Amino acid sequence: MNVKPDFSKGHSHAETSPAYLSVWNMESYYGESYIVQNISFNVHEGEILALLGRNGAGKTSTLRSIARMDSPQVTHGEIWLDHKPLHTMKSHEASAEGIGLVPEDRCIIPGLTVEENLQLAQIAPPIGWSLQRLYELFPRLGERRKQEGVTLSGGEQQMLAIARALARDIKVLLLDEPYEGLAPVIVDEIEKTLRIIKEQGITTIIVEQNAVRALELADRAVILDTGGIVFDGSASEVLANEELRSEYLAI
Ligand SMILES: Nc1ncnc2c1ncn2[C@@H]1O[C@H](COP(=O)(O)OP(=O)(O)OP(=O)(O)O)[C@@H](O)[C@H]1O
Ligand SMILES: [Mg+2]
Repeated sequence: MNVKPDFSKGHSHAETSPAYLSVWNMESYYGESYIVQNISFNVHEGEILALLGRNGAGKTSTLRSIARMDSPQVTHGEIWLDHKPLHTMKSHEASAEGIGLVPEDRCIIPGLTVEENLQLAQIAPPIGWSLQRLYELFPRLGERRKQEGVTLSGGEQQMLAIARALARDIKVLLLDEPYEGLAPVIVDEIEKTLRIIKEQGITTIIVEQNAVRALELADRAVILDTGGIVFDGSASEVLANEELRSEYLAI
């Protein structure tokens, strides 16, 4: 099944939605496999949204669809960012519009120092974040600016991956399991940074297995189950709802 997306119908979902980032009836496939199954949700400007669900629920696929990666292929639906149609764009165009995806494997470039990794991502200040501003946000990276990026600890590599996204002029940060494999004290440090990033007006979607930590940070939550949405509401509501927690999040 390789249906070509038809976005020519002139649907004006963007005009009716007050949201900053809006995913509307989105469907995505890996080849024949129907993965993201007609999901719709909104994210408001400056909000942190936790995108949760069991293993294989479709969280990574949803982030990759929004970032307009080549796979999975979005075959139906619309994605709007600040009234711009991301669904018509390639990944580099979505990136230029301000989408910053930090993948689970962090993708630090071997052979380059911390600073070179950041410089490679940077578009000229003042459009993107300056190195000075990034090192203020992540002092550990400043201290290790000459160290090869791949030799950093797991937590420091996660910080570098986030800093690299910020080095561009991003509006939306898409984080795929940023706390994975990290000690609680490092999670605290990254969480603090994510709160500062929110204060700068950046909108965040965080995907996390550590659902409690993500819900404590987030304003709202969307829970996915086998490619569809089973909950969309406030983060505190999920924390308070034992049925939802045990059924979909195993917490
Ligand atoms: N490249 C691919 N080709 C085919 N199927 C894929 C591919 N990547 C993921 N899938 C399938 O898509 C479904 C959703 O995967 P996805 O990685 O989005 O889940 P997830 O919610 O991020 O899971 P996890 O919590 O384990 O990271 C799974 O059934 C997975 O096997
Ligand atoms: Mg995943």
